Amino acid sequence: METEVKLTKLAACAGCGAKVGAGTLVQMLEGFQTHQDEKLLVGYDKSDDASVYQVTEEIALVQTTDFFPPIVDDPFLYGQIAAANALSDVYAMGGEPKLALNIMCIPETMGKETVQEILRGGYDKAYEAGVIITGGHTIHGAEPIYGLAVSGFVHPKKVLKNCGAKPGDCLLLTKPLGIGVLTTAAKAGLVEDAVLQKAYRQMATLNKTARDIMVKYPVHSCTDVTGFGLLGHGYEMAQGSGVTIHLQTEQIPYHKEALELADMGFLPAGAYRNREYASKGVRVKETVSRAMLDLLYDPQTSGGLLIAVPEAQAKACLEELQCQLPATRFVGYVTEQEENPLIVE
Ligand code: CO
Ligand code: CO
Repeated sequence: METEVKLTKLAACAGCGAKVGAGTLVQMLEGFQTHQDEKLLVGYDKSDDASVYQVTEEIALVQTTDFFPPIVDDPFLYGQIAAANALSDVYAMGGEPKLALNIMCIPETMGKETVQEILRGGYDKAYEAGVIITGGHTIHGAEPIYGLAVSGFVHPKKVLKNCGAKPGDCLLLTKPLGIGVLTTAAKAGLVEDAVLQKAYRQMATLNKTARDIMVKYPVHSCTDVTGFGLLGHGYEMAQGSGVTIHLQTEQIPYHKEALELADMGFLPAGAYRNREYASKGVRVKETVSRAMLDLLYDPQTSGGLLIAVPEAQAKACLEELQCQLPATRFVGYVTEQEENPLIVE
């Protein structure tokens, strides 16, 4: 039976906003027995974007998976966004995705055409990325879910961990913030179509271009800004690297409509979870507005890359990124570890 129900109405929380909080995850995975292997260059304990396993002197395997309930009503667009988001974790390691598997859950009442459109969106993005989808697994369930398990490759010496930032680095961000706020407010019909279309295009944009430019520079560290928000992912980068990250709010790219909506109190549940996780490590200067701080905690779906690059190369890297990705901004800098891992100024 064909259903007319809007896709997002079937989802309790949208996109990466459905991600379980970082603090909760750490607790749940504590104390499990695992094998030690020196070829495992990045494992779960590093809270990084993907795992990395060295195969030869020249090749390391990058693996990751990401999936979530519908964040938009258009099934094709939903498929595109879910795939772009899943592939992003390979780009965030400096790698190139090569193979992927579909992960899908569909309500029994969902029409065949809707399912096909979701998959078509996924294949479309995989094709654009040069990735081959080789299979997958689909189950029935109450809430639709779609995403990919992705395998890619990176040179073992060129892995971009989220724990490599060094004092003196500049931080670049390649996509504007506010996606969680906009998609939450959109459910209540409070966002103009033109604004939403811009947000949708942004989420469906692969981080491939950002990755391809970034790897030409001596980047120290990279992560993609997704469910934990800029402050959550920034917190992981600062903690892992043993440095303090300064975020300069006047420079941070965001959707101005999202700032207005945040000011009116439209925040996704994930923003509160992210605040709970990271706020203990964050010092905020009085001049920063509450709404701006909310955007820094806002969970992003298929967000941009946060790149730590030495100051000497930062300008050239920024300019090259801006040619292809005009929203890219210099958003802060890295210092020796101070009392707080994150300072918002
Ligand atoms: Co990630
Ligand atoms: Co992920």
